[in-house]
Amino acid sequence: MTTTSHQPTANMPSYEAARDGFTWAAAAASLDGLPGGALNIAHETLDRHADGPLGDTVALRWIARDGLRCDFTYITLRDLAARFAGVLEALGVRRGERVFTLAGRVPELYVAALGTLRHGAVLCPLFSAFGPEPVRERMARGDARVLVTTRELYDRKVAGIASQLPGLRHVLLIDEDLPARMEAAGPAPVTPTRPGDPALLHFTSGTTGSPKGAVHAHRAVIAHRATTAMALDVHEGDVYWCTADPGWVTGTSYGLIGPLACGATMLVDEADFDADRWYATLARERVTVFYTAPTAVRMLMRAGPAARAGHDLGALRHVASVGEPLAADAVHWAEEVLGLPVHDTWWQTETGAIMVANYACDPVRAGSMGRPFPGIEVAIARRDAEGQVVRRDDGLPELADDPGEEGELVLRAGWPSMFCEYLDDPLRTASCFVGDWYLSGDLARRDADGWYWFLGRGDDVIKTAGHLVGPFEIESALTAHPAVVEAAAIGVPDPVAGQVVVAKVVLASGHDDTPALRRELRGFARTRLGPAIAPRRVDVVATLPHTRSGKVLRRLVRARELGLAEGDLSTLEPTA
Ligand code: WT7
Repeated sequence: MTTTSHQPTANMPSYEAARDGFTWAAAAASLDGLPGGALNIAHETLDRHADGPLGDTVALRWIARDGLRCDFTYITLRDLAARFAGVLEALGVRRGERVFTLAGRVPELYVAALGTLRHGAVLCPLFSAFGPEPVRERMARGDARVLVTTRELYDRKVAGIASQLPGLRHVLLIDEDLPARMEAAGPAPVTPTRPGDPALLHFTSGTTGSPKGAVHAHRAVIAHRATTAMALDVHEGDVYWCTADPGWVTGTSYGLIGPLACGATMLVDEADFDADRWYATLARERVTVFYTAPTAVRMLMRAGPAARAGHDLGALRHVASVGEPLAADAVHWAEEVLGLPVHDTWWQTETGAIMVANYACDPVRAGSMGRPFPGIEVAIARRDAEGQVVRRDDGLPELADDPGEEGELVLRAGWPSMFCEYLDDPLRTASCFVGDWYLSGDLARRDADGWYWFLGRGDDVIKTAGHLVGPFEIESALTAHPAVVEAAAIGVPDPVAGQVVVAKVVLASGHDDTPALRRELRGFARTRLGPAIAPRRVDVVATLPHTRSGKVLRRLVRARELGLAEGDLSTLEPTA
């Protein structure tokens, strides 16, 4: 049985018209703003609606793991965020200082996030499935002043590393002292942050070195709101469900800020993927807009038609995905089984918001990421044999003219949610730009009609279940074991997760390759890294191939593992 509800007109009725008429200045003007040109994400997401006709509308509908539901109106959520800001005020936390969260998807996480932004502190949400080592690394690099977590997560992941975090002054425990502190603190007003003041810190992984902290400013909300409305077609009154965890950028831009800025009712499920639960939730909550990951779509496909049967998905109006390639067969499956195609969207932690998308007003081009968001200029840059973007004499990248030409996807800098910098790393920040073009690191091509097609990543970073994993972080965890002298982490194809992490290790002399040792290494990595990013398999190898400059050639490790062409070996160390 299917009941179809009223279909509103798409927020973007014509792509061409929107692209021709769009300006970021107009998008900025559609925000509420604060006196004197101040701008604060918490005001745009909460106060604006709490003080207007949407005050009693449900902002957050939380579904607990046990199925219990709890609603927070815009007024309630605003008042709670104001109290959390009051707690930070009482603790003497200053503007620009960093507040980290490490918690599952519980309401307090959302309250703390919005309260932090309201206070003018910088929010850094961590994924609760990280192990102690990724937590320590990120909190140390981000100079965490405050941590909001639970007793259980603190004991398991933070207690053992807290002494290595000298800047950490306050730990607020959601299930212990936080409620009383919130009770005691008076509600604090919104801090009149400037549009360029830092608001968000998201760590993302690179090929070498530790994770990079991408900083976004309060002005990012201009792009969050515009793209949630025009790329995801979210309207006021929509029941919107983004399945991402706020520990990853999707869960913050589109699982927190975007939908609230648009005045929607945002659904948050504490539990992780479960096909029956997801279909039941989509039906019972009459979800209208659903934003998820290709891995989740593949898991629904795998669950088969029995899981789908009997659920009325008639309220569903728009389905979209992000994070990894969405194959054409997944789009067609959804058309048949959900009654709607999945609209692929492309973006990155650094871009802060959707840059390329299939839009509600156009037929989906299955297998393509779509077309540039209005106001975003996208191009394909030529790369040389070493994989570097070719620079013209005037210092700008050489752009491909011909449809179908493969190269690196680049974006003209200047949209509001573009990252401001990688924290404390000006060189890495600078290396992402050629002239005023931002280099995404992804390989793509554009077809004759202007649609973009993803080809792969230009580097060794691994995508597993939509999560970006830096090989260096995995390798460092493994080489911390006395039996390992060297390690290489690579992604190998997996039908559901897209890729899974596999590590190859070289043993120190005196250690033998035994099943027990492999098991121990896997456990060692899992304990330090957590289940989200730990290698699925650890293989012992005699040697690893190196470049002449001594770096492990992961590309070649991967090619050999998968029996692929070995490619350009001109940088290979001959003795390897
Ligand atoms: C990388 C960015 C931004 C949300 C989640 C991930 C890959 C992203 C697509 C897509 C193929 C995609 C790219 C990109 N990616 N969207 N539609 N098709 N690949 O953010 O963790 O910073 O990862 O995810 O490789 O560079 P992130």
